[in-house]
Amino acid sequence: MRCTVKGGRPLRGTVRLPGDKSLSHRAILFAALAEGRSEIDNLLLAGVTQPMLAALAAFGIEWSLQEQHLTVIGNGLEGWKNPVGAIDCGNSATTMRLLAGAMAATNVEGVLDGSVGLRRRPMERIVQPLQKMGVAIQSTDGCAPLTITRSHHPLRGMEHRLEVASAQVKSCLILAALVADRPTQICEPGPSRDHTERMLASMGAKIGSIPPQGSDQTGYQTWVEPLSEPLKPLQMHLPGDISSAAFFIVAGLIAPDSDIAIENVGLNPTRCGLLEALSEMQAGLTIKGERDQGGEPCGHLRIQSSFLEATTVMGERVVRMIDEFPVFGVAAAYAQGETLVADAQELRYKESDRIAMFCQELRKLGVEAIETQDGFRIIGKGKVTGGVVNAHGDHRLAMALMVAGLGSQEPVVVEGAEVVTESLPQFIPLLRSLGADILCETDG
Ligand code: S3P
Repeated sequence: MRCTVKGGRPLRGTVRLPGDKSLSHRAILFAALAEGRSEIDNLLLAGVTQPMLAALAAFGIEWSLQEQHLTVIGNGLEGWKNPVGAIDCGNSATTMRLLAGAMAATNVEGVLDGSVGLRRRPMERIVQPLQKMGVAIQSTDGCAPLTITRSHHPLRGMEHRLEVASAQVKSCLILAALVADRPTQICEPGPSRDHTERMLASMGAKIGSIPPQGSDQTGYQTWVEPLSEPLKPLQMHLPGDISSAAFFIVAGLIAPDSDIAIENVGLNPTRCGLLEALSEMQAGLTIKGERDQGGEPCGHLRIQSSFLEATTVMGERVVRMIDEFPVFGVAAAYAQGETLVADAQELRYKESDRIAMFCQELRKLGVEAIETQDGFRIIGKGKVTGGVVNAHGDHRLAMALMVAGLGSQEPVVVEGAEVVTESLPQFIPLLRSLGADILCETDG
């Protein structure tokens, strides 16, 4: 699909977004590990969550869906069945890495596989620590397919030191640690999202985190005790996805004369790096109605068109906005001055190499975007010229490039835009409902 976005239209109105992607994955999976009936509202139904739902059925877990409301009848850790055939995780690394941990905890055998793109993502980062805990898991040259066979339970509780801060790796190990012989500690160099910890704690698990203390820079630590009781079922209304909201936030900032609201968005501090960076850029962004929803902070956002200033993002903030860099880079192009992103090498291992691909495509729109080894520099001139770009099979690249068109002088044409359905099938209708001029044609 090829979408043409014309700039210059003000955006006005209110949007509500589907549930957070990370919370949706966890809610589906953890409900299946619990004993009893879980009820989950505002689930994200998109390309990335379909494989997790399909996997549940393959492991013999009963579930039903009515619009965005999911009911799961969990069988507990003992009640999972071996799947027939390989589990297809689609494009979703979260599905693969979290399922590996869940399979270790439930001691089922099977193969985890996925798309060509997913087969390129690094999996040794879960395979090695799981093997140390006693899990019988093998990768294929460090990548998927992953083969898991029955292990000797209990697994070994131990201390893990992760080289890269990653909530997917941490969550995988937390799940295995639920059936270990002693407590497990996971130490990371940055504050990766803590949804697993919050959700499992609400289901009765003994789990917590300790930020770095004083001069003792041991990193961000998470501890988890083996389960002594079954996990309690989950009742939760999922807040809207801050990573999807990010596209609407930047859209509202750069489209002229705009004033939009986004209702009920997750505001977990481990996800709020973008809001902090945009505030430093003098963005007209306000938060109202902050509250707790099922252990997750959330609230309403208001965004007004703004003159943005350049900023620098590095260090611990990077991990708290790891999915937001493509759209943050678009904001930087519309800002005045040089924006620098550093310490963000991990962007090269996402759905595309988000440093190389993003800079390459942004340059096609007339922006000076310079790739560095661990990030990029954008020389913001307060404008984007326009042009034809490609999404490279990356949903966040597609949405960021479409947003770039909302304030551009000439239209921005995004090829391969159908990939937006991976995480936000409603993206184009919602932007149009705010007044955006987007014309999409299907190839052929
Ligand atoms: C996610 C963690 C992040 C993020 C991804 C979702 C999660 O990945 O990029 O979109 O739900 O745990 P990493 O753990 O690889 O950083």
